[in-house]
Amino acid sequence: MTYEHILASKDGDVGIIQLNRPHVLNALNLKIIDELVAELERMDGDDSIRAILLTGNDKAFAAGADIAEMADEATVSMLLKDQFSVWDRIAKINKPIVAAVSGFVLGGGCELMMNCDIIVASETTRIGQPEIKLGVMPGAGGTQRLTKVVGKVKAMEMLLTGESITAQEALDFGLINRVVPVELYFEEALKLAKKIAEQPPIAVRLIKKTVGKALDVPLDEGMDYERNAFYLLFASEDKSEGMKAFIEKRKAKFTGR
Ligand code: CAA
Repeated sequence: MTYEHILASKDGDVGIIQLNRPHVLNALNLKIIDELVAELERMDGDDSIRAILLTGNDKAFAAGADIAEMADEATVSMLLKDQFSVWDRIAKINKPIVAAVSGFVLGGGCELMMNCDIIVASETTRIGQPEIKLGVMPGAGGTQRLTKVVGKVKAMEMLLTGESITAQEALDFGLINRVVPVELYFEEALKLAKKIAEQPPIAVRLIKKTVGKALDVPLDEGMDYERNAFYLLFASEDKSEGMKAFIEKRKAKFTGR
């Protein structure tokens, strides 16, 4: 499948998606999000892919929603278009998404990054929710996901001033996993994605889903969900293989069954 604004490829078991509107710092117009969601869902259903890597370029992961596209919109047209509802499908992708980010990660770019599961950033990364400077506010999860991760006061500071934070600050706040030199962020993210791709796919899928629950439901409900997911894995061939391989002191061969 060829797209206008994204590049899709594969490295072993890892599906790679690159946002590709460099002339506008990967501003997220409607089409790029539609293409991204279509490719994520395609990769999610492709058995030969076990983890997904999402990236931009050294200068920008994404500098937010496309302002030029939104500038003439009004309330009713925005409501009817409901352009952010398609974003909900990103959160429903079953396979883990590793983000390799660098440069500007702003507005919708930050919201997109927060939909990923593991985030490797270059030292040049700047992360922020600058919508307030445009007279608006985040519309794709910025007030909700950011607050859940960094806590109320830091979220308030970022959202109310619109100022970005450095990769190191984001690391300190638990918003990202790693900061590495710009020459290495993609390789480092790919290495992580490949390591995840070696794990038993059903366990990977259930862990992703269950960790997601931790952010949404009360603890006892989350614990119940976890226990049931744990028991469910005992029906998988990968559980039998994983435990047998341990006892036989050999590397397990997981099939995703
Ligand atoms: N939408 C559309 N075009 C954008 C864009 C955006 N979000 N961000 C950058 N661009 C375009 C610029 O218009 C410019 O295009 P031209 O060359 O045709 O003029 C090109 O990308 C390069 O940008 P700059 O010349 O501005 O580059 P810079 O290095 O001087 O500044 C920047 C970089 C600080 C990121 C600046 O571009 C900027 O402030 N961008 C907007 C960031 C922003 O406000 N994002 C939030 C958008 S709203 C949103 O995301 C809502 C939501 O919740 C989903």
